[in-house]
Amino acid sequence: MEDKKSHYYSKFPDVAVKIHTISESLRRHLFIFKTISGVFSFNRIDLGTKVLIEHMYIPQEPSVLLDLGCGYGAIGIVLGYKSLQSSVYLIDINKRAIWCAKENIKINLPDQTKNVIALSGNYFEPIKNKNLKFDGIYMNPPLRQGRKDFLNLLYDIQNYLKNNGAFQFVIRKKMGAAYILKYFEDTYPDEKVEILCKRSGYWVFRCFH
Ligand SMILES: C[S@@+](CC[C@H](N)C(=O)[O-])C[C@H]1O[C@@H](n2cnc3c(N)ncnc32)[C@H](O)[C@@H]1O
Repeated sequence: MEDKKSHYYSKFPDVAVKIHTISESLRRHLFIFKTISGVFSFNRIDLGTKVLIEHMYIPQEPSVLLDLGCGYGAIGIVLGYKSLQSSVYLIDINKRAIWCAKENIKINLPDQTKNVIALSGNYFEPIKNKNLKFDGIYMNPPLRQGRKDFLNLLYDIQNYLKNNGAFQFVIRKKMGAAYILKYFEDTYPDEKVEILCKRSGYWVFRCFH
């Protein structure tokens, strides 16, 4: 049965609109993010997101990158800023999140609005006819929706990575980071997985590369 409650991962969150502005220094640059109630962590940058951004590997050569479940767009916008020659896609199911992400691309990356693109929809559905494969997929996964969804997504993600492409994500230790590491090692014994950092109760993973 469909869950009718409004969540940050609802397509159309049903909470009164409050607009907020976040300014945050990430990878030694000040970013400004417009956010709206009903979007994940709308009043301050999530600590897990920040730990991922500070420790994720960002290719310097021209690449195709994806911020999956982008929220208001912090991860994808930092990727666009630090990897100027790359194409960056940001996808989220929440329409308010995508509105914010589009605004935030214009605010933070005014010269890159053609190669940093925000799309709304269910995970890979918005790009399914584009024949795209990524050098990097980045994510702070919505584990509130259940760990099983994330484990299924892990399987799908392999189909969207180029050879040597990497999936980088952050998991809170308390939300089962060690379980996910063991699951990955047991399920994909021929694939690489490394922990890029363990910081402030969060683990950053890089796998499939
Ligand atoms: C934990 S939040 C992280 C948001 C953002 N990346 C950040 O770090 O602030 C997870 C995001 O995944 C999105 N999401 C959940 N299910 C999704 C789906 N099926 N397709 C696309 N996005 C989804 C949620 O709307 C939410 O914005």
